[in-house]
Amino acid sequence: MRILSGVQPSGQQHLGNYFGAIEQHIALQREGEAYYFIADYHALTTVQDPARLRELVGQVALDYLALGLDPTAATFFRQSDVPEVTELTWLLSTVTGMGLLERGHSYKDKLAHGITPRAGLFLYPVLMAADILAYRSDVVPVGKDQVQHIEMTQDMAELFHNAFGCEVFRRPEARLAEGAAVVPGTDGQKMSKSYDNIVGIFDEGKPLKKRVMSIVTDSKGVDEPKDPEACVPYQLYKLVAPPEEVAEMGRRLADGGYGYGDAKHALLAAIDGRFAEARERRRALAADPDSVEDVLAAGGRRARAVAATVLGAAREAVGMAGHPVTGP
Ligand code: ADP
Ligand code: TRP
Repeated sequence: MRILSGVQPSGQQHLGNYFGAIEQHIALQREGEAYYFIADYHALTTVQDPARLRELVGQVALDYLALGLDPTAATFFRQSDVPEVTELTWLLSTVTGMGLLERGHSYKDKLAHGITPRAGLFLYPVLMAADILAYRSDVVPVGKDQVQHIEMTQDMAELFHNAFGCEVFRRPEARLAEGAAVVPGTDGQKMSKSYDNIVGIFDEGKPLKKRVMSIVTDSKGVDEPKDPEACVPYQLYKLVAPPEEVAEMGRRLADGGYGYGDAKHALLAAIDGRFAEARERRRALAADPDSVEDVLAAGGRRARAVAATVLGAAREAVGMAGHPVTGP
């Protein structure tokens, strides 16, 4: 089974990213042949500053490696180290209807937010389909927001097969994180970088404390009994603390005599405990950027060999040479 997913290099990773995506990526890396990449071509639709793009790519690489991505188990690489996917994007775009792309939720959302779309944004799902199909991926672990993109990928594969009378690609299936709940942010809405309500995985000390203490709650006094499920600190605690301690906090909140401040302090300690090792590893990796670069470069070579074979088959199917002519 081949597992593949892409991660947008979009800044600090937070608890929502971890419990909604990263944890599942790491868990799956030994269940099959896993390919994970940093989606820098996609990022270019929003980040058009070379120094910033490099910085963001470096950050996600550190985050994933620190959180347990094992480059001997999974192939970890930069999307742009496999330029074959951009050629496949073109081949797929020739069979993809405008209507299919115009129905994209993510695209429609952006339009609704007043963004003037560029062609790259419109073609975003085609590039994503190329990512998935280039590696003949079976399973694509993603968040709910990306499921439509996988369905579009299935459609594009079929359109290509029908147009050219071939069977070049494998049909991918989306896999949602188990029990994937939306992780609430400090204001109680979905945690998201765009709402400035995140708790960063690699935040520490004062900034982390400030974030956790700013989590919204109702105004019940210490002595009053509280509904744990309506308490954001408890909801986050459930994700990071061991089950017995979660049950204990639930009881204390319901009994009364346990304040939201107490719950926040417990949450802070649990976050620190849960990510202490990853933070240490991240510091060590950050001090050795060459080793990180080596991991990405080696992953890129492995990934490229796979994509080149699939692209060759696609080129042949449309009536081109199986492999592009190289060098003079
Ligand atoms: P953000 O909203 O902070 O920009 P992204 O959209 O880049 O986050 O999300 C990256 C991944 O993390 C996606 O797979 C997404 O489904 C998941 N994710 C993001 N926020 C949450 C959340 N609050 N709860 C669960 N999963 C989330
Ligand atoms: N669009 C995905 C996101 O925003 C990232 C991504 C790019 C991706 N290419 C992919 C995910 C291929 C899965 C498979 O999260």
